[in-house]
Amino acid sequence: MSDVLELVDVSVVRDGRALLDEVSWSIKEGERWVILGPNGAGKTTLLNVASSYLFPTRGTVSILGDRLGKVDVFDLRPRIGVAGVAMSEKLPKRQTVLQTVLTAAYGMTATWNEDYEEVDKDRALAFLDRLGMTEYTDRRFGTLSEGERKRTLIARAMMTDPELLLLDEPAAGLDLGGREDLVRRLGRLARDPLAPSMIMVTHHVEEIAPGFTHVLMIRQGKVLAAGPMETELTSRNLSLCFGLPLVVERNGQRWTATGLPLK
Ligand SMILES: Nc1ncnc2c1ncn2[C@@H]1O[C@H](COP(=O)(O)OP(=O)(O)OP(=O)(O)O)[C@@H](O)[C@H]1O
Ligand SMILES: [Mg+2]
Repeated sequence: MSDVLELVDVSVVRDGRALLDEVSWSIKEGERWVILGPNGAGKTTLLNVASSYLFPTRGTVSILGDRLGKVDVFDLRPRIGVAGVAMSEKLPKRQTVLQTVLTAAYGMTATWNEDYEEVDKDRALAFLDRLGMTEYTDRRFGTLSEGERKRTLIARAMMTDPELLLLDEPAAGLDLGGREDLVRRLGRLARDPLAPSMIMVTHHVEEIAPGFTHVLMIRQGKVLAAGPMETELTSRNLSLCFGLPLVVERNGQRWTATGLPLK
């Protein structure tokens, strides 16, 4: 069976600077990956490559068995669900939550008429329910809180029944309760064998839901560590990644990281 994602020596160069620097990385079916790295490390750039929206300057990329450059990206993109800040900004604020999720089924950001298939509406409602958004379906997207908006975007990303789901900082800006709620929901999704392959970008190990299996750490566009969470999510790797001494601990199925006190 081919890999869900395979990058070989991928570089993205802009203005003479490598935003991604010879990144090699592969994801097998059933794996759920977390990407960790400081601001500007290249995490979002990497997701843009993985979602076929950005072609690398060098190297080869295969997504869901198709080689970027040889496949029609318009066939590939519906197979990939993306939830991130960039998408949030493209969506009309006046549209209702239900419409926001529904338009994904038609590969658009805005509604052009109200003529949706009932079956799509039912699917949208089911995803919204799974994300705890049932009470908000008629609210305008622009009036949602940060947490409600994030949950709507994840429901939207699920709408095309993607084989690969990419989440860029889904818990950023959430309060403690909102974060814990989202981690629980993502954990449920990550452990569902029928759910798509998942890649989640985050800055905080506290946001890693149980069920995520692998971690990729990047710094200045370079891969620092990649592999199973148990072996790679170590104090040493995390300290190198963020450039300061950190202690990472596992508490049951969750992780925490703290800086060492100054001497
Ligand atoms: N089109 C572009 N042209 C030039 N530089 C760019 C371009 N897009 C991104 N960059 C730069 O590439 C670097 C990596 O950006 P990227 O958005 O991938 O970082 P990130 O790891 O997602 O950071 P953050 O945690 O802040 O979201 C940044 O320094 C950014 O300024
Ligand atoms: Mg980013």
